[in-house]
Amino acid sequence: MWNMDGTDRSPVFGALAIQAVVFVGLYLLRPLVEEATGHAVPLLWVMLAQGVIAGIVSRGFRFSLPWVVGQVIAPPLLLFALALDLPTWVFPVILLLLVLVFWNVAGNRVPLYLTNRATSEAISKLLPRGKAVHFVDLGSGLGGTLRYLAKAAPESRFTGLETAPLPFALSWLLGKLSGAKNLDFRFRDIFKEDLGQYDVVYCFLSPVPMARLYDKARAEMKPGSLFISNSFAVPDQKPHRVVTVKDGRRTKLLIWKM
Ligand SMILES: C[S@@+](CC[C@H](N)C(=O)[O-])C[C@H]1O[C@@H](n2cnc3c(N)ncnc32)[C@H](O)[C@@H]1O
Repeated sequence: MWNMDGTDRSPVFGALAIQAVVFVGLYLLRPLVEEATGHAVPLLWVMLAQGVIAGIVSRGFRFSLPWVVGQVIAPPLLLFALALDLPTWVFPVILLLLVLVFWNVAGNRVPLYLTNRATSEAISKLLPRGKAVHFVDLGSGLGGTLRYLAKAAPESRFTGLETAPLPFALSWLLGKLSGAKNLDFRFRDIFKEDLGQYDVVYCFLSPVPMARLYDKARAEMKPGSLFISNSFAVPDQKPHRVVTVKDGRRTKLLIWKM
């Protein structure tokens, strides 16, 4: 139901619903267990049980492994955070920061993780030598890939599209501070951009949007332009070329020529 095939609802609400139902169940069960055993059940045990049961139920609903792990560790972590006796304003501030960074997780289920330096180098080698191109990073995160490429290929133009507020603001600021004149960041949804203006389209997203994005790229991109996906395949569409990066995770760049 909440698996990562891209056709269904966001797992955030499902995950919260499971935690709420398990919480109510344990809340009702705790006094019965205490009465039956004659012992008080420590809150830590309740939270550990909450995590384990929520994890099992989530797995039953076919949540992916990272979500299951999150479901298991969230309740004891919350208890730990409460035990630290932090000022109450800390919690909404942390929540706000998480929302501003992971803005695209709830909606289209793309989190923030970054292209590493070895992969940025491999991408720079894919750019046509001595020819100026317009390159776009769809979901540009903190903009590190584009800052690297803008320096490596000063004759070309580099554009980043991002809608998570905090990464966008940081990438914009770091881009300005870098002084690169061939670099710009736009606060824009990747699905609202005309991809026909770019020679190279790069993305590092998740399995969820790939089929829809590829269809869009096919419809809009110019003949001869490149569509490069870091790690995530397009269902039923074999790439024309795969470059394996010599980094720790053996990153694969999947390349289609339009
Ligand atoms: C895995 S990160 C990759 C960041 C960067 N491209 C890199 O490789 O370092 C994916 C980024 O895409 C952004 N994103 C996801 N969906 C988007 C959308 N529809 N429009 C714009 N940005 C989006 C997310 O906010 C996130 O910052």
